[in-house]
Amino acid sequence: MLFPDYRPRRLRKNENLRRMIRETSLSVDNLIEPLFVVPGKGVRKPITSMPGVFQLSVDELIREAREVQAAGIPAVILFGIPDKKDDRASGAYASEGIIQRAVRALKDQVPDLIVIGDVCLCEYMSHGHCGLIQDGDVDNDATLELLARTALAQAKAGIDMVAPSDMMDGRVAEIRQALDENGYENLPILAYSAKYASAFYGPFREAAESAPQFGDRRSYQMDPPNAREAIREVSLDVEEGADIIMVKPALAYLDVICRVREEFDLPVAAYNVSGEYAMVKAAAQQGWLDEERVMMEILTAIRRAGADLILTYFARPAAAKLRKG
Ligand code: PBG
Repeated sequence: MLFPDYRPRRLRKNENLRRMIRETSLSVDNLIEPLFVVPGKGVRKPITSMPGVFQLSVDELIREAREVQAAGIPAVILFGIPDKKDDRASGAYASEGIIQRAVRALKDQVPDLIVIGDVCLCEYMSHGHCGLIQDGDVDNDATLELLARTALAQAKAGIDMVAPSDMMDGRVAEIRQALDENGYENLPILAYSAKYASAFYGPFREAAESAPQFGDRRSYQMDPPNAREAIREVSLDVEEGADIIMVKPALAYLDVICRVREEFDLPVAAYNVSGEYAMVKAAAQQGWLDEERVMMEILTAIRRAGADLILTYFARPAAAKLRKG
């Protein structure tokens, strides 16, 4: 049926009609808030390029986590900045490492909130790369053991889920095996399966103090032009035992989220990364766009592309907006 018999505008006339035929919904249930933990007490250090996001000491982290829970958000993902960095990332898997201390405190004081541990070595390495360096490049196989140790240290501290974000080949299998051998066969893995070497991580590297001191991450993270390769990467992680698969970043990769959604039946997560957040914040500060509407449009678009879960620095403002309608 064509115009003038068919008129799509008939169903856009008012909010109730629009509500009835809306195809995509965003719920607080879909949100995961990233939080940055640092050593010390009473630390609440703003991250310049991410207004509203802070580096938090464990006591402040507990306060924020209570707010996250009160907002109805089911989960947080933790990134740690250690006291000292070295060339073996010792802080990542030490039993007194920053994440392990944070997890113990969170599970003690905000026990119902799901705590996800980002498993990566870059924040703990003096050179800022995600693995052990051999002849100027990251040594894949030697790194696997340290990643497994890190996941295990987080498990022992009480983490609810681990999220490997390094893009080493074979790390999901290695982590799954280490967890299973130590009695953590029920601990899920959220795998950063298709993670691109993206310039959108810029502000995060200020937040996590994890910028590589030489070179870049292109020998391990994916090349942005590739989408078929994302399917291969996700297949590997599924075979190796991933429970949730992730695409990262989100906005410039909505097509990848969509393809992954069509090909796999596992829950799909997408990371609305630091640069995506910073762009909106910067433009809103200039008065160039309506922050709240843009935030909701972006998060809804990531859902429409096929993501079940969204990791986003907008989690609390979005939860507040969803509540007030
Ligand atoms: C660790 C890691 C990064 C992000 C999440 N985990 C940075 C990177 O790979 O360089 C980026 C998150 C963001 O930009 O919000 N490897």
